[in-house]
Amino acid sequence: MQCKHAAHMDKIQPFRVMQLLAEARKLEAEGRSIIHMEVGEPDFDTPQPIIEAGIQALKEGRTHYTPATGEMALRQAISDYYRQQLHIDIAVERILITPGASGALQLVLSVLINPGEQVVMADPGYPCNRNFVYLLGGEPVTVDVSAQTHFQINADLLPDVWTEQCRALLLASPSNPTGTIIARKDMQAMIAYAHDHDAVVIVDEIYQGLCYQQPVYSALELSDDIFVINSFSKYFGMTGWRLGWVVAPEGYVGDLDKLAQNLYLAASTPAQVAAISAFNVETVQILQQRVEIYRQRRDYLIPELEALGFKVPIIPDGAFYIYADCSALTDDSLDFCQQVLHQAGVAITPGLDFGDNHPQKYIRFAYTTDLDSLKEGVRRLRTFIAG
Ligand SMILES: Cc1ncc(COP(=O)(O)O)c(C=O)c1O
Repeated sequence: MQCKHAAHMDKIQPFRVMQLLAEARKLEAEGRSIIHMEVGEPDFDTPQPIIEAGIQALKEGRTHYTPATGEMALRQAISDYYRQQLHIDIAVERILITPGASGALQLVLSVLINPGEQVVMADPGYPCNRNFVYLLGGEPVTVDVSAQTHFQINADLLPDVWTEQCRALLLASPSNPTGTIIARKDMQAMIAYAHDHDAVVIVDEIYQGLCYQQPVYSALELSDDIFVINSFSKYFGMTGWRLGWVVAPEGYVGDLDKLAQNLYLAASTPAQVAAISAFNVETVQILQQRVEIYRQRRDYLIPELEALGFKVPIIPDGAFYIYADCSALTDDSLDFCQQVLHQAGVAITPGLDFGDNHPQKYIRFAYTTDLDSLKEGVRRLRTFIAG
């Protein structure tokens, strides 16, 4: 049978880091040792209290659908978390549980975007966002960001790209791949700009728990009239459970609920019940120790990369990524990453995964592996670069 895919499929790019991971795994299956600095997921397993709660949920028969908006006790736990940790009052009704931040992004964008409408986002940025917009017949509009702008959009950059068709501004703080945080005053100015132009703001805060700069803030402090997306994947170490959430303006909750009922019915029930334990004192202690370990890895890796000839123009304040300028070592980061994988046994991600803004100059290093492995990775890179 001839395969005939929908036209929008021509615009969807593969997520190259997943292909790179597959290539690295193939080399490992052939007996090669690979240091993994490409994967954007914690090397730590899910904390034990959450696992135990998950097992208990299964034993108790929590295997049926929850409401599309999610398990009420989990929504309440998230509301409590905002109040206790960030001093923000969020009504439980505004919190919807989703299958990961991925599910939340698709849900929110699907409720908002008409064909032909534009969504403004940073380049470099999380690659799937563009593809979500294409699927809806929308148009991603990228703003080139650089070390000069802290690798984030700010309100001064918006007028140059803004058109009548702009319906949403999609931000991420801390960002993937750069780990940088949007300063509170910049966030405030962008929310004001978007609202003045009749557009909505969506802030992806999936890395919010992984912030190394205090005090941590959420964009929800600044407005009730924005969408904030978060997830149990990164800080909470639950990537494979597929669980996230969205905080929405009150007026959109009905639409989100209606679409969630159709798109995926509900997020995984055992995962939702387990995630209630993610906010226990015992779990939070485990998670905060991990934040400290990530910080130590970051602080080890940055000077080592600089000594190798990479430039790290901005110290990332969050997430577990370093977006390093490799132009002193190569003028083709994709080719460099391929060579490093095959010759040195180190997996790193070329800038090409994150957009069209000078991708050949950048490589993303994920410090989602232990310190000894990072040291071995640096040693291998040193040998490779010395040629
Ligand atoms: C910025 C950003 N948003 C969303 C996601 C999706 O995460 P998940 O669906 O696992 O919650 C990721 C995953 O890497 C990410 O980096």
